[in-house]
Amino acid sequence: MSLFRRKPIHLAAGDEGHVTLKRTLTANSLIALGIGAIIGAGLFSLTGVAAAQHAGPAIAVSMLVAAIGCAFAGFCYSEFACMIPVAGSAYTYAYTTMGEWLAWIIGWDLVLEYAVGAATVSISWSAYVVSVLADFGIHIPPQFAAGPFEPVKLPDGTVLQGIVNLPAIFIIIVISLLLMIGIQESARVNSVIVVIKVAVVLVFIGLGWLYIERANYTPFLPENTGEFGKFGLSGVMAGAGTIFFAYIGFDAVSTAAQEAKNPQRDMPIGILGSLAICTILYVLFSVVLTGMVHYEQLGVAAPVAVAIDKTPFGWLKLAVKFGIIAGFTSVILVMLLGQSRVFFSMSRDGLVPKVFSDIHPKWRTPWRSNLLFCLFVIPFSGFLPISVVGHMTSIGTLFAFVIVCAGILVMRKTNPNQPRPFKTPLVPLIPVMGIIWNFAMMYSLGWDNWMRLLVWLGIGQVLFFFYGRRHSKLGRAAGPA
Ligand code: ALA
Repeated sequence: MSLFRRKPIHLAAGDEGHVTLKRTLTANSLIALGIGAIIGAGLFSLTGVAAAQHAGPAIAVSMLVAAIGCAFAGFCYSEFACMIPVAGSAYTYAYTTMGEWLAWIIGWDLVLEYAVGAATVSISWSAYVVSVLADFGIHIPPQFAAGPFEPVKLPDGTVLQGIVNLPAIFIIIVISLLLMIGIQESARVNSVIVVIKVAVVLVFIGLGWLYIERANYTPFLPENTGEFGKFGLSGVMAGAGTIFFAYIGFDAVSTAAQEAKNPQRDMPIGILGSLAICTILYVLFSVVLTGMVHYEQLGVAAPVAVAIDKTPFGWLKLAVKFGIIAGFTSVILVMLLGQSRVFFSMSRDGLVPKVFSDIHPKWRTPWRSNLLFCLFVIPFSGFLPISVVGHMTSIGTLFAFVIVCAGILVMRKTNPNQPRPFKTPLVPLIPVMGIIWNFAMMYSLGWDNWMRLLVWLGIGQVLFFFYGRRHSKLGRAAGPA
């Protein structure tokens, strides 16, 4: 039964007299943190592919479908984040509701969302930086901008095999150093970047609106080709599954709960506010993109560039590339931030070594953890193909969403009278819908990704039984099981 021992909520919510993280983040910085993590590789690369292959102009509807799934989870995250405002996010929520073993599974699973997610976006970052440098006449040798599993096609048609993705490794190192220096510095850099990337999206929507050709919207939802997921209603669903990646990140706000000035009030504002703002931007962005360019021409890596070619604003291409690079940078920043905060909580509980919660005396950040995760992420960024790491991120995130939604149902039964500054509406409907919706998206990711998830969780089990369980503070306090 000790596998299911639960951390009492008053212990989970307290700082237990440790030197801890600085409480400096306001509601606005939390919203910026959310937007910082959300708008990135998903919006700028996947929207076009999802329109071309799955939904046509109805990709705007797919955007809404994915947002609804995220909103179910977002409500549940908000309820937990203001009840238990500490750094561990879904990991801590599971520890108080479903016990140590499931908490470990989720903490370990979140590495897929945050660390592997950061690796995914660093690979996209690298592609855009290489392209901007080429615009300025600086050419990075292609073998050093792609991993060994990624064939690179040169302009003359020859195909080279990549060796290592050096720009992707570079950005991971730079961001990790920034995170070590301080949360306030990191939040400030994030806020500046968020202004730039939202401005780019707004300029694209505003100028692009003038170049919409109504004919491109007919048919709005192309007829299904006879294959599941290729247009028609199933296409809208498959489109939603594809662009789910674009929404990942709103939950990262909850990992900053321990650094929020007023978490009880501001956590739901940060989580749901960033999700709502991004949903509006995403739907408008999709309407403009598919209005400017016929959906059949959008199945390319840089659909925005194709759209800009339809306008006389050639300069906009470079501006958009800069905005995109800035956008990717903040996604990596918030993902790596979230990762170190989850392990911070796990380490305080004794489930992972103490080094993950060592706080630097001056910077007040878990700097050793930032350093270790930098080393962990580098091989993923430098050597793995983007599709593998991208899908691992999505399946890992969806799994965490399912557990958090289930956690709300459990917590309402076990702690009905606990003060809840924010309550998920319509319980049990919303959490149950959250479980079904997100599980359906997991299912759509296919067997290969399930295998990778299971292997990852299997490795986690070995570590849990050899280390975590034996060092658990809760376990030690309870005496031999
Ligand atoms: N939502 C983030 C992105 O699209 C992970 O880059």
